[in-house]
Amino acid sequence: MEGKLVFAVNGKRFELAEVDPSSSLLEFLRTRTRFTGPKLGCGEVRLLRWLVILIRKDANFLIGLWAFLLALLSGCGACVVLLSTYDPVSGQVKDSSVSSCLTLLCSLHLCSVTTTEGLGNSRDGFHPIHQRFTGFHASQCGFCTPGMCMSLFSALTNADKTNRPEPPNGFSKITKLEAEKAIAGNLCRCTGYRPIADVCRSFAADVDLEDLGLNTFWKKGEDAIVSKLPGHNRGKIFTFPDFLKSVVKTSLDTLMNGKNTNFLDSQWYRPTSFEGLYQLLNSNAFIGSRTKLVVGNTGSGVYKENNLYDKYIDLKGIPELSVIKRDHTGISFGAAVTISRAIEVLKENVDSVPSAEKMVFDKIADHLDKVASPFVRNMASLGGNLIMAQKFQFASDVTTILLAAGSTVCVRTASDRRILSLEDFLEWPPLDEKTILVSILIPSISMVELSYGTDQHSVSSHRSKSNIIFETYRAAPRPLGNAVSYLNSAFLAHVFSDKITGNTVLLYLHLAFGAYGSEHAIRARKVENFLVGKVLEVSVLLEAIKLLKETIIPKQGTPHSSYRSSLAVAFLFKFLQPLSKDLAVPENNYHNNASGVAVITEHPNENFNRNSDLSHHEASNSELFNSSSVLLSSNQMIQYGKEYQPVGVPIEKVGAEIQTSVNTSNCIIVYLKDPFLPYIKQLMAISFALMPKPGEAIYVDDIPSPKDCLYGAFVYSTHPLACIKGIKFNPTLASEKIITYISVNDIPPGGKNVGSGTMFGTEPLFADSLTECAGQPLGLVVAETQRYANMAAKQANVQYSTENLEPPILSVEDAVRRSSFFDIPPFLYPQNVGNLSGGMAEAEHKILSAEVKLGSQYYFYMETQTSLAVPDEDNCIVVYSSTQCPETAQGLIAKCLGIPDHNVRVITRRVGGGFGGKAVRAIPVATACALAAYKLQRPVRMYLDRQTDMVITGGRHPMKINYSVGFKSDGKITALHVDLLINAGITKDVSPSIPYNVVGALRKYNWGALSFDIKVCRTNLPSKSAMRAPGEAQGSFISETVIEHVAAYLSMDANLVRNKNLHTYESIKMFYGSSAGENPEYTLPAIVDELISSTSYFDRLEMVRHFNFCNKWRKRGISWVPIVHQVTLRPTPGKVSILNDSSIVVEVGGVELGQGLWTKVKQITAFGLGQLFEGGSQKLLDRVRIIQADTLSMVQGGWTAGSTTSESSCEAVRLSCSILADRLKSLKQSLEEKTSSVSWETLISQANMQGVNLSASTYWVPDTDSMQYLNYGAAISEVEVDIATGSTTIIRSDLIYDCGQSLNPAVDMGQIEGAFVQGIGFFMYEEVVENSDGLVVSDGTWTYKIPTIDTIPKHFNVKLLSSRHHQKRVLSSKASGEPPLLLAVSVHCATREAIRATRTEFSTDDTKSSALAFQFDAPATMPVVKELCGLNNVEKYLETFITTRQPPEDA
Ligand SMILES: Cc1cc2nc3c(=O)[nH]c(=O)nc-3n(C[C@H](O)[C@H](O)[C@H](O)COP(=O)(O)OP(=O)(O)OC[C@H]3O[C@@H](n4cnc5c(N)ncnc54)[C@H](O)[C@@H]3O)c2cc1C
Ligand code: FES
Ligand code: FES
Repeated sequence: MEGKLVFAVNGKRFELAEVDPSSSLLEFLRTRTRFTGPKLGCGEVRLLRWLVILIRKDANFLIGLWAFLLALLSGCGACVVLLSTYDPVSGQVKDSSVSSCLTLLCSLHLCSVTTTEGLGNSRDGFHPIHQRFTGFHASQCGFCTPGMCMSLFSALTNADKTNRPEPPNGFSKITKLEAEKAIAGNLCRCTGYRPIADVCRSFAADVDLEDLGLNTFWKKGEDAIVSKLPGHNRGKIFTFPDFLKSVVKTSLDTLMNGKNTNFLDSQWYRPTSFEGLYQLLNSNAFIGSRTKLVVGNTGSGVYKENNLYDKYIDLKGIPELSVIKRDHTGISFGAAVTISRAIEVLKENVDSVPSAEKMVFDKIADHLDKVASPFVRNMASLGGNLIMAQKFQFASDVTTILLAAGSTVCVRTASDRRILSLEDFLEWPPLDEKTILVSILIPSISMVELSYGTDQHSVSSHRSKSNIIFETYRAAPRPLGNAVSYLNSAFLAHVFSDKITGNTVLLYLHLAFGAYGSEHAIRARKVENFLVGKVLEVSVLLEAIKLLKETIIPKQGTPHSSYRSSLAVAFLFKFLQPLSKDLAVPENNYHNNASGVAVITEHPNENFNRNSDLSHHEASNSELFNSSSVLLSSNQMIQYGKEYQPVGVPIEKVGAEIQTSVNTSNCIIVYLKDPFLPYIKQLMAISFALMPKPGEAIYVDDIPSPKDCLYGAFVYSTHPLACIKGIKFNPTLASEKIITYISVNDIPPGGKNVGSGTMFGTEPLFADSLTECAGQPLGLVVAETQRYANMAAKQANVQYSTENLEPPILSVEDAVRRSSFFDIPPFLYPQNVGNLSGGMAEAEHKILSAEVKLGSQYYFYMETQTSLAVPDEDNCIVVYSSTQCPETAQGLIAKCLGIPDHNVRVITRRVGGGFGGKAVRAIPVATACALAAYKLQRPVRMYLDRQTDMVITGGRHPMKINYSVGFKSDGKITALHVDLLINAGITKDVSPSIPYNVVGALRKYNWGALSFDIKVCRTNLPSKSAMRAPGEAQGSFISETVIEHVAAYLSMDANLVRNKNLHTYESIKMFYGSSAGENPEYTLPAIVDELISSTSYFDRLEMVRHFNFCNKWRKRGISWVPIVHQVTLRPTPGKVSILNDSSIVVEVGGVELGQGLWTKVKQITAFGLGQLFEGGSQKLLDRVRIIQADTLSMVQGGWTAGSTTSESSCEAVRLSCSILADRLKSLKQSLEEKTSSVSWETLISQANMQGVNLSASTYWVPDTDSMQYLNYGAAISEVEVDIATGSTTIIRSDLIYDCGQSLNPAVDMGQIEGAFVQGIGFFMYEEVVENSDGLVVSDGTWTYKIPTIDTIPKHFNVKLLSSRHHQKRVLSSKASGEPPLLLAVSVHCATREAIRATRTEFSTDDTKSSALAFQFDAPATMPVVKELCGLNNVEKYLETFITTRQPPEDA
């Protein structure tokens, strides 16, 4: 066993002699075991490429951008597993969640790993976590679910180990807040988190089960009791197997004898002493080799490694690096101590620790709790963090807070050991490879005092009070962490107050600031020196702030630099304001508002209140997060009829359980009917791959690689417009892994350079001699593993030439100047409504040429683009693709290869999230794989790394809008003209159809007359494509912007203006024609009325006004918006077959993306055939299986897009069922004449014998007069904006959505909530940033922030309106996939209201006119909001205070 790596996965022993030391645990699990539950969702972030590009450009900009890139960290949590270690001395097992993508396999020696498959399975029973995920409808596409399950499992396991009182049966010892926070670092793009939060909370004894949302365990109105939930079986999972415990005990002897646990064959070394370490480093074998020292290796999640190392040295084996020592000098942490462990120790209650010290330690721990996410903190070492800050200018939180606390560090080389202050350590030149950080000391307060010669106790008397104050702050896009701050700070002060005069003097002061675009965290020494010893008068504060602004200057090129400087001011003010007797305010008054949210009433128009502000927390409104729960409440209201049962019943989602863990079905696919029978061997490999044996739901990348499989990765252009002169690969270890490079030259004769396309035209697969946008694929590196291919592709060195080329077009303004437009086919160009000049003439007021802009949005499906292509006989190819349109992929692959369509079989089982991005944009990946496989005659697969996916995939269309509007004094709008510039990128994709969608949503109000001029701009940027509610999201936003502007102009409440312009039935008919249907179908006015009254809108409006009157530094806004969204039904096929054993198999053209298509189809099948089934439709459900999309089995599958695929597929299946029912009915009757009851089995076997055709298919084509209809909904959102940081907290959102007669209310509820939260992302958080060449630089979870559990509404209520029966709609249902996304505009509008309140309060006579009306683009990120609120509000406030309140000098 010596020299071998021994560990366990789900109790199974693994013993490896040879391991690639750079392999991650995730890679091992996914490629070498059957445990593919952990998924790869990000596992990335790559700055090295950036350095190369930017160093060439501008070194200063580089530094700034680096700081920016590092300023927003994240991770996704899809890969989370439980890592357990065993201490043979104490007999304790330590369990922690970790991200398996960052954990190096070799570091797992003697560890045990539990994946979601280890929690439960169909043989032994599912785990209650799996069951609750299913029952609470908390899994849609399912890609995030295994990671979510493991994060929760880890939290439950650790809570249950505490010595807290025993909880009631069925519950864990976890608290509600802990349970929710357990998944704070896990991303989900589908659900909107609410149901996931419910799953987590369902384990907490302090939860009121009545508060949990829609589930299958109890119906509304029934008793919500824990016994109805799958019981929490504490301790049932053994995370550390006995065999491994024995191995650990044996190995302990080896370690005691001082032996290193090296896996020499793997080039992995784990020295057990510093001597051993330096022996290694100084040995010949190491000289000149690429060696990496690691502890947790989470740094590789920050600085992506695009090259390989020769050797690794794991520092964790050196005992001194893990020592924690507490004495009178403070707490000393060995550098390898994890952040999680440090938090535990800092929070320990030690009696001997003075209260001031305890307070400091607690606050440090609280701040550390915001660093990254639990599964990163469990691996990340304090030392690693400090080293990253010291060597690589990492925007660390840890450094800033430890700097303020006065910490020291111990570093050593082979011969020297020194102790120095953290400040000096940071100032040192970057450490060399042989200098090791040994420990960090957080000093006790008495040690700090000693260094200043002060003693807090000695100065307290009856006249005076001496106090230690310590606060930390961070402004980050996510309140609970999982995002690094724009700026962080921490302040330590010894304060001396004279009780009689009320004056406060600072005896000493540490002001530390970091992450704002500096080389490292700094102490603001000048400000400290200025303040110490002075009485904290307002003028002193103002002077200090001026000095601070001269100190906190982000490096050139740092985005939002003035914003960052203003944060420093705001935080210092927050800290000092309560100490200034003129500004200090009494304790808060807490009361509850109508939202049920604690409101802190400050003194009217006073100042920051220390206790009410963020004293420790980051940007968000901390009191909202100090409550016992992240999600304070939610309510889902559904109604459903029994007419079409089981259609309409909120049954569990098909496949939900296998998405959480393992399959229940034992389904094996064997292509016996395959047309390529002789080649069954190759296909059998795939058949087994698709066999959900104990594993999990099978996504494309879960299919085990067939024999001889190769892997591809795109090389893409970083230049927007250039001739390609050549491509070379840097001579690195990674480049050596290249097997071949596939380019346009490899397209076979007869084939075409076609990568994707739509009805508007095709686009090239690879740039030929000219690249036309940064992000355009140039070719494909093929290697033996995906990681090698990815790394090697990044080694490409492309020679570009721009000689004789025009400059690229990188903006819509450029496109207009150069008349670079795509044609819009006349049938798609929307029609004007009414007469614009007439409408304008009618107007009493006009706003002319106002502007607003909308950014792009990236799909952020959790599963990136992926395909596997397997060559087959006779020029055929089978492609497994994660796509929303297999049929189109089939045609384009055939065209590229120059073969007929019937030679190409595209199979799609399930897609890990699509949102439009797996339609056109998925096809180049499928085509590239097919081309490489065809050329090499070997299977080739690709799974794009997140960065490549984000760079090449495009996303939502950015737009620039200019509008002119005429209106009357009462707010009635009479005419609107919109000039719209749509940035389409380089190819047409679906862009010519976007104007139609924008105008479709724009018509939601009665504008009187509506006209527009729309240009679809061709730019040298990656093609934009359809993203959930493409165009409609922007159209709805534009409408609300106009309404708000009119309201501001008239100084009216925007909500009155909305009401005034809401359609009547007559006007909606005029704007939408026949799509509007009949009068009773127009449910919007009723929805709005209900929403306004049921949410006490007017009372809350008053509360908001009162709140704003009472609070200077926080403002609230409330707003409602209506939506109208037109959808189109498309022809769709469906096929239902009954097999010999009477089970039923169904095929539809649509693809399961997580939207619940299969669930609804299953329900409709049971409904359609239920009349023949004894016991009724409900029972037939278990016999129905929906199978994957396969282009050679079901033709004309079309696209899964536009929200209507589910209902169209249902209708096709319903018609197929009718055909079968017609065929079987008479047989059933004749059998019933002979015997009273005829079982389903008998009926089918008799039908078989009598030669009844038991398969029926239909191609359903909707009637032209009813293929379009309108969806209605409305939402009210209330937000609170923190003026100091610009962060917006969504206090409450209420949605009502007309779902017709919902086919499955649970599925529709999930779609509505998920779409709404995705919309929040678009309007508030997600910012696609490009560099000056148009290359996307917000290209990972670090720089692109989708909503997380802590950014959804704290009160989230949704009602499904079950509107009337409708003959022409599919069982009277309506679509739910896209329209609800538009409702999220309400959050943006409410934020605008809050900004207005701020601007009004801080306005002067000069600025009054712009206080109400201002351009408010989307997304409304923190810097945008703060800039609109005013970057200098603190200074203005202090200046005003001085001029208006200071007593005259002679007084
Ligand atoms: C998703 C994610 C989010 C994050 N969010 C935050 C955040 O919000 N705030 C924040 O402050 N940090 C954040 N971090 C950074 C995180 O804290 C660091 O990655 C971590 O602390 C590094 O520790 P490690 O043990 O993993 O170091 P490793 O990755 O093992 O090492 C990092 C570097 O330090 C060197 N090194 C490690 N230990 C020593 C030593 N003792 N002596 C000399 N060299 C050493 C290594 O050689 C390597 O160069 C985040 C990280 C990730 C991955
Ligand atoms: S895949 Fe590991 S954190 Fe995203
Ligand atoms: S269900 Fe969470 S990402 Fe799809």
